[in-house]
Amino acid sequence: MCSVRYKVLELLMEEEDYISGEKISKIFEVSRSYIWKCINSLREEGYEIESIQNKGYRLKSSPDRLSYVEIKSYLDTDFIARELDYFDSIDSTNNYAKSIARDVEEGRIVVAEEQTGGRGRLGRSWSSTKYKGIYFSLILKPGMAPSEVARLTLVASSAVVLALDEMGIHSLIKWPNDIIVNGKKVCGILTEMSAELNHIDYIIMGVGINVNNSLDSFGEEVRYKATSLSEEESRTINRQELLGRILNNFERLYKKFLDGDFGPSLEIARERSILIDREFRLVDGDRVENVFVKDIDDRGELVVIGEDGRERRVYSGEISIRGKDSYI
Ligand code: BTN
Repeated sequence: MCSVRYKVLELLMEEEDYISGEKISKIFEVSRSYIWKCINSLREEGYEIESIQNKGYRLKSSPDRLSYVEIKSYLDTDFIARELDYFDSIDSTNNYAKSIARDVEEGRIVVAEEQTGGRGRLGRSWSSTKYKGIYFSLILKPGMAPSEVARLTLVASSAVVLALDEMGIHSLIKWPNDIIVNGKKVCGILTEMSAELNHIDYIIMGVGINVNNSLDSFGEEVRYKATSLSEEESRTINRQELLGRILNNFERLYKKFLDGDFGPSLEIARERSILIDREFRLVDGDRVENVFVKDIDDRGELVVIGEDGRERRVYSGEISIRGKDSYI
């Protein structure tokens, strides 16, 4: 595999005219045949690159991919996603992120076009069709207590909602980690952490979004509750722009959160909550209880009134929330 291929690609992207193989090879101090290999591996990745004898190479078109070169023009961040590991296919971006988390800086992101073992909450799987959705994991090192994690998931959910707003798509949050469009789930967040008693080593924030996925790609068991943005909007959605916008919004809200200001995220989480002021079924293992959802408190926990009439807090942990007769 040609290691400078994305640098060659950047050069081709900047240049409107043809650029000679000789010039490129001089810039990177490698042979012309090596550059030729780079061009071919880019072609295999879907880049259409013209080559004309005595003139050189010219980029004609780029595929819809979520590599750093493709999303960077949408990024407006300082430290989120400035380091990006990109995979055409991987088992799970959360698994990979975990394997590197200790050795890398906060803000590094792992993005994949396809996951063969995408994981959801509560041991479920996450359908990850190639080139259709957005599947990524962010590595965070917020230097705080494990009890803060509930709030962090809401920071991420709020960032997704704001990014969708900017793309003209109205969405709601099903506390704490599902994003809903027209009553069905389009996005889920899997927050995993490595922590000691009082200190988080790292957090892996895994986000999966059904963007241009077709409904047939979802398994029978989730079809009644899952949808994709393109399906709801009847148009193809720009994945690169959406990913960039999510990361920009996340960094803005996350910086505030690190400064001790959870307010902006909480405000969105409350305003866009699909749960507040309604009755739901709380499923905790074998236990099912009808509860009235009153609020989300400033710790990011759900305030409910249980069947015994008492108010209590619910942590995200192992519970799931269902509508009384349907998904929501
Ligand atoms: C859920 O709703 O249950 C959470 C789904 C999280 C899916 C994402 S896709 C990217 C990252 N890698 C994984 O294996 N899971 C998360």
